[in-house]
Amino acid sequence: MFTATALSGTKPAQYAQLLAQARALLHGEHDRIANAANLAALVYNALPDLNWVGFYFFDGRELVVGPFQGLPACVRIPLDRGVCGAAARMRATQRVDDVHAFPGHIACDAASASELVVPLLRGEELIGVFDLDSPVPARFDAEDQRGLEAIARAYVESLR
Ligand code: SME
Repeated sequence: MFTATALSGTKPAQYAQLLAQARALLHGEHDRIANAANLAALVYNALPDLNWVGFYFFDGRELVVGPFQGLPACVRIPLDRGVCGAAARMRATQRVDDVHAFPGHIACDAASASELVVPLLRGEELIGVFDLDSPVPARFDAEDQRGLEAIARAYVESLR
């Protein structure tokens, strides 16, 4: 049985602990749904000020919602829409301090104020995105981005 211990220390130290917990959780399992579900639950419960954490998978045409924690979300996101679409299209992390100022932002939960979306890439292949929403404006800084990109990489590495 996996037990997550509370994170402590500086933010980089906390992300190192969270990454170690993520790796322990994913160890020996390659199923993309199982690993996405457990990672969403781990991150949602470990980090403060989040109202949505989850995965969208690319089906070859658009993004389709996968395992998540938070309120029910839009099911399909075309690549030309929203913060998630931008991350997938540009294959670059989108860190948005104020989602209401982001053109085309899709408000799944009206409480969301800031958002971080990390693309999931295996070589050239787009697998999907890892999406985090916060009710706090500018919730995510560069350290959060680095830490969550490392967790997204651990997820991609866990797949077969
Ligand atoms: N806000 C996202 C949509 C997904 S939800 O936040 C869960 C976007 O603009 O892409």
